[in-house]
Amino acid sequence: MSVLGIETTAHTASIGVVDDSARVLALASDVYRPAAGGIHPREAANHHAEAFPMLLDRLYTEGKLVPEEIEGVAFSQGPGLGPCLRTGATVARVLSLAWNRPLLPVNHCIAHIEIARVLSRMDDPILLYASGGNTQVVAYSHGRYRVLGETLDIGVGNFLDKLAITLGGTFPGGPLIEKWGESGKELFELPYSVHGMDLSFSGLLTAAIAAHRAGVSREDLSYSVEVTAFSMLCEVLERGLAHLGKREVVLGGGVAANKMLRSMVEKMAAPRGVKVFAPPPQLCVDNGAMIAWTGLLSLRHNLQAEVEESPVLPRQRTDHVDVPWRHGGKTSEPGALD
Ligand code: ATP
Ligand code: FE2
Repeated sequence: MSVLGIETTAHTASIGVVDDSARVLALASDVYRPAAGGIHPREAANHHAEAFPMLLDRLYTEGKLVPEEIEGVAFSQGPGLGPCLRTGATVARVLSLAWNRPLLPVNHCIAHIEIARVLSRMDDPILLYASGGNTQVVAYSHGRYRVLGETLDIGVGNFLDKLAITLGGTFPGGPLIEKWGESGKELFELPYSVHGMDLSFSGLLTAAIAAHRAGVSREDLSYSVEVTAFSMLCEVLERGLAHLGKREVVLGGGVAANKMLRSMVEKMAAPRGVKVFAPPPQLCVDNGAMIAWTGLLSLRHNLQAEVEESPVLPRQRTDHVDVPWRHGGKTSEPGALD
């Protein structure tokens, strides 16, 4: 069985095809990069509308997309930017009708989690989902992924993106902060904001911008914000591990591509005997393969939608959606780990 997935929640237009062993058979993406500032939703949607014919054509010509072999068409239903979501949903509805295949709406956050989990081969990990718009510590319980803690304002990725633009960079800022931070030498004290299991990044952003204006170098500032923000993530993750007694951690979302974050989580987990897994960077950031894989899990549980009943849901949360394939808390997909 193979399923095609369409991703368009924000900046990335992507198509992926995966089979029922979670092998990525095809993946093609094109990222909207604003000339200056953050994402303009309508411009991003226009970018996606122009990108899909080209991406589909490329995969088809390379022989990676064989319509007769596709058994379902999945798309990101939410959360995300309305115009971007609607563009991807339209592409998916057209393919579903043209190929006469089931249409599979997928929650974008759960897709980040499921692709990371299947690659990890871990049964029941605690998950750190750290991306542009979201920062959540998540665990499965009673039919859904439950949010144990999350950001109270902006996502850690958006925080890095905004800071990088102030420091003279362009979107996406996370990889730039990572690069600049590698040459940082001095650690500046910045606001550390953890409230129980929740976090906050907007005060950290204000303080970092003030430090930049006061003359702190880009390199030292990048290093300092990484240490501060990722320590906050580690604290919440460690508390979640302690409360639930879990033995495994999986990282997902675009910020999980960051090497310092990966190594800090490993240092936190090692003394507890806890195993850590993070996917390869191209499967941490938004991609069609994660949508395809979650669509495949949905198809196994007959979660297809009629075209007339497949609205986009810009505010849909991780904990709004049932995940029947996690029944019993185990990795119950036959063949998924072959
Ligand atoms: P969400 O999943 O919340 O909807 P998103 O879809 O916008 O967010 P992703 O593609 O999952 O985001 O992640 C993009 C974010 O990851 C951006 O904020 C980007 O700066 C950040 N990011 C990507 N690579 C790195 C890196 N190496 N270090 C830090 N941040 C990174
Ligand atoms: Fe994402």
